[in-house]
Amino acid sequence: MIISHITLKNWRNFRSVDVDLRDRVFLVGSNASGKSNFLDALRFLRDLAKDGGGLQKAVRDRGGLSKIRCLYARRYPDVEIEVHLSENELQTAPTWRYAIGLKQKKGGQNEPVLSYERVWKGDKQLIDRPNTEDKRDVLRLTQTYLEQINANAEFRKIPKFLESTLYLHLVPQLLRYPEAFSGAGIQGDPFGRNFLERVTKTPEKTRRSRLKKIEDALRIAVPQLKQLTDVKDEMGIPHLEAVYEHWRPGAGKQREDQFSDGTLRLIGLLWSLLESDSLLLLEEPELSLNAGITSKLPSLIYRLQKAKKRQIMLSTHSADLLSDEGIGGEEVLLMTPTAEGTKVEPVSLIKDIKLLLEGGLSIADAALPLTVPPAIDKLILVK
Ligand SMILES: Nc1ncnc2c1ncn2[C@@H]1O[C@H](COP(=O)(O)OP(=O)(O)O)[C@@H](O)[C@H]1O
Ligand SMILES: [Mg+2]
Repeated sequence: MIISHITLKNWRNFRSVDVDLRDRVFLVGSNASGKSNFLDALRFLRDLAKDGGGLQKAVRDRGGLSKIRCLYARRYPDVEIEVHLSENELQTAPTWRYAIGLKQKKGGQNEPVLSYERVWKGDKQLIDRPNTEDKRDVLRLTQTYLEQINANAEFRKIPKFLESTLYLHLVPQLLRYPEAFSGAGIQGDPFGRNFLERVTKTPEKTRRSRLKKIEDALRIAVPQLKQLTDVKDEMGIPHLEAVYEHWRPGAGKQREDQFSDGTLRLIGLLWSLLESDSLLLLEEPELSLNAGITSKLPSLIYRLQKAKKRQIMLSTHSADLLSDEGIGGEEVLLMTPTAEGTKVEPVSLIKDIKLLLEGGLSIADAALPLTVPPAIDKLILVK
């Protein structure tokens, strides 16, 4: 299943977003244009649906509704999110639609409440809240039906799908030295601190087969690397071990703390791509990777996702990544900050870019120049 369309109202730096989404989505835009905030709307839906989540926690984790509600909005309008779910990008009418509006309860603790919650299966509307029960007991509006198993039986597929969303922003230092960063960590482990644990907890057969695939890919990307396995040290702590071809006979073995940032990130990235068939949200996958590898990411993602039928959305600044000729203009969403909040459009709908793409330019050449702030030359004048 994929999210084939999203509408946002007053969500962080977006006053209004209304776009179709493909199997692959590339989010491009200048710094602070809202790429992470866009992904956060999808993480928010995941947080509503997941075990131990729910509306109150999802809003609290983000510092309250006042932090979420768009600062560009006048007065106090509702924050609204609507998603359409389809089997794939070719489907014309969505299988499901889910929509919520959020507002702050007047008085009291300022807790967020639903102004509405609506669910459709095809053309048929299954849920239309506030309903009579909500009117009898307004406290019910502090919870969505996504988070209540006894209320979502008719559309269980929606929370199941949303809950399985994976968000990744891999930080090599955390993969390498998880114990050096104390504290509770963040649910879902977006930065990869518990990555090795995830690897070891995977059943042996699956684990071996994934590591084998990653090894094959790494052998191409990191030619000195010959073998990748997982081992446990004397204390029973899991490690990744690679055999490197050395100048002397008998190859050298290395553990993950000696891997390069790029190797570690690539391993984490490949593992995540192979791990499940749920929606995958990636932050700047190009970080620490060399240009050659980065330029191959779109086709790698394409091949892996076709096999899994999963949707992948990623934020990127990388010209190497966007130079892939196979990327279509409708797969790329450009975020343009304006005085009224950030505008989001597929670049295929922007006339000037469309002409350049038709003329044979890649997304990198046609669209990336638009992500550079207009006054960027003044940056070097800063004293
Ligand atoms: N409620 C809000 N209203 C308006 N702007 C917001 C709100 N919340 C965050 N922002 C702004 O969004 C920007 C960050 O966007 P972000 O998604 O991190 O950018 P990117 O990932 O593209 O670099 C910041 O400038 C921040 O001030
Ligand atoms: Mg960001």
